[in-house]
Amino acid sequence: MDQTRPTPGINRRHLLIRVTQGVLALTGLALLRPLFRFTGFTVKRKPRHILVPKALPARSVYTEHDFILFILAQGPLAVSRICTHLGCRVNYRKELGLIECPCHQSRFTREGKRVAGPAKRNLPIYPVKIIKDNNGKVTGYMVTL
Ligand code: FES
Repeated sequence: MDQTRPTPGINRRHLLIRVTQGVLALTGLALLRPLFRFTGFTVKRKPRHILVPKALPARSVYTEHDFILFILAQGPLAVSRICTHLGCRVNYRKELGLIECPCHQSRFTREGKRVAGPAKRNLPIYPVKIIKDNNGKVTGYMVTL
């Protein structure tokens, strides 16, 4: 029995060519990424809808993982919890009436406007849809991130 005979369809040369092609393809993709970023090309991510399944009283605050929902006199307002400085998760400090970042103490108003700290930009605001039942009673809020 001849054990040196190559298996039909698979040989070292063929394998090396395939591996080289794979490495070149990955390198090409890695080089294209900065080009896409430079030209401003971005893939729009799908919006996420988060349901707050209860009616909240006026002037209350509801904290979720990704946003803080304020029920203001003008209506509900959802503010991002991701700090615009370095991305820490911010908290609402009721005693101050401000949103504060625990990392470097940037502070923001309830409307997300920056008032102090190293953050240079305001916190993003998310659209909120009020969910009502057939009688017009508020049953929750849909926040779109
Ligand atoms: S990450 Fe929030 S202030 Fe630095």
